[in-house]
Amino acid sequence: MNKKPLVIAALTLAIAVPALETWAEVTFRNAVTGEVLDFSFAKAGGDSEAFKKFKETGKNPYNGNKEIAEGKGHSLYLSACSGCHGHEAEGKIGPGLADDYWTYPRATMDVGLFEILFGGAQGSMGPQYGNLNTDEMLQVMAWLRSVYKGDPAKADWLK
Ligand code: HEC
Repeated sequence: MNKKPLVIAALTLAIAVPALETWAEVTFRNAVTGEVLDFSFAKAGGDSEAFKKFKETGKNPYNGNKEIAEGKGHSLYLSACSGCHGHEAEGKIGPGLADDYWTYPRATMDVGLFEILFGGAQGSMGPQYGNLNTDEMLQVMAWLRSVYKGDPAKADWLK
């Protein structure tokens, strides 16, 4: 029996399977339309190691990092978000972001929260991709998670 085709098939699998794994990135969608988000619009400078990891795992690597959350994350929140969401994320013309009520339930996961920041939602919640780069969005998100006052059981991003 000619074993050559088998050997070729095995080799192809050995090469293709690990390659597929590295391609398996999270798909990010617009929170309202469901369209896949186009990162070619992203503000320059956000393609950090943390953002690359986030695209693979769907988990914000800055969560629990106090230095990032209370440093840059908080100051970016104050300049980009607090005017509408309140200084303590308690809500103003936009909803509170530190409690466990979410208009968009996917925001209990980091992917869902990021999707709203990058792609926007309804009304005055415009897309932030021209305002913050993707790494800065992760920093703001880490601050938001750090001031969460809702039910710990609903903190899906920790699961
Ligand atoms: C000009 C005002 C404005 C700014 C600036 C703004 N938002 Fe919003 N945001 C809103 C409004 C209004 C809504 C409600 C939109 C909706 O329900 O579709 C909203 C909704 C949200 C939601 C969804 C909340 C939920 O309950 O599901 C998140 C998350 C959010 N904003 C985060 C942010 C962050 C983080 C920033 C800063 C980077 C920001 N927003 C900047 C007005 C704003």
